Amino acid sequence: MNLTLKIWRQKSAKDKGQMVAYKVTDISEHMSFLEMMDVLNEQLINTGDDPVAFDHDCREGICGMCSMYINGEAHGPDRGVTTCQLHMRMFKDGDTITIEPFRAKAFPVIKDLVVDRMSFERIQQAGGFISVNTSGNTQDANAIPISKQAADEAMDAATCIGCGACVATCKNSSAMLFVGAKVSQYALLPQGQVEATERVLNMVKQMDEEGFGNCTNTGACEIECPKGISLENIARMNREYLSASLKG
Ligand code: SF4
Ligand code: FES
Repeated sequence: MNLTLKIWRQKSAKDKGQMVAYKVTDISEHMSFLEMMDVLNEQLINTGDDPVAFDHDCREGICGMCSMYINGEAHGPDRGVTTCQLHMRMFKDGDTITIEPFRAKAFPVIKDLVVDRMSFERIQQAGGFISVNTSGNTQDANAIPISKQAADEAMDAATCIGCGACVATCKNSSAMLFVGAKVSQYALLPQGQVEATERVLNMVKQMDEEGFGNCTNTGACEIECPKGISLENIARMNREYLSASLKG
């Protein structure tokens, strides 16, 4: 395939930035999207140009680093995949592909397609953990009975990889799908009960301080989420928040 790529280039956080067009040729439909980006970058390096900066690590849908907004969709046109799992067979010869960073006030651009998602880390630090007794008398987690339904729902919530596609997709830049997943992961399990009240209050407070918007029930986040995190997690977080507020 021969393609035209329109890519957001921005030298630094202070630079204004602009879309720049590039041509790539002989792209195999079996390549991943990031392999296609590697081809472009090799081309740019060979001609003495600055390669396009983009985040990636695992390249298998686990780390949540590859944050690209492709043809107006977070992680591109396929469903249930991250950008690194997106195949070039989703495009056709002669296509023009628009590639932008994830855009949100709480995700400032660092360079080109790389955004700063430390706001997510700060939300996690505010409550995304449990305390465990390490005195030597720690109860084995497997000795605590948990219903199959609660275990399955907690596991589903825990599959959130913190990629930020939900935020990039949301017209309000809301982080409620991400925070809902993180709150639910613990709220569903007995191990999460000790800090349950402070957790939801602190995580929501941090989310608001970071400048994320509110949820208005559009549901775009659930559709674009590569891990299929359900809106049910937002509802659970709201219930947890209400109950914690009444206790507090
Ligand atoms: S909820 Fe989905 S889209 Fe949002 S950060 Fe988690 S995995 Fe990514
Ligand atoms: S590079 Fe790790 S999820 Fe894409």
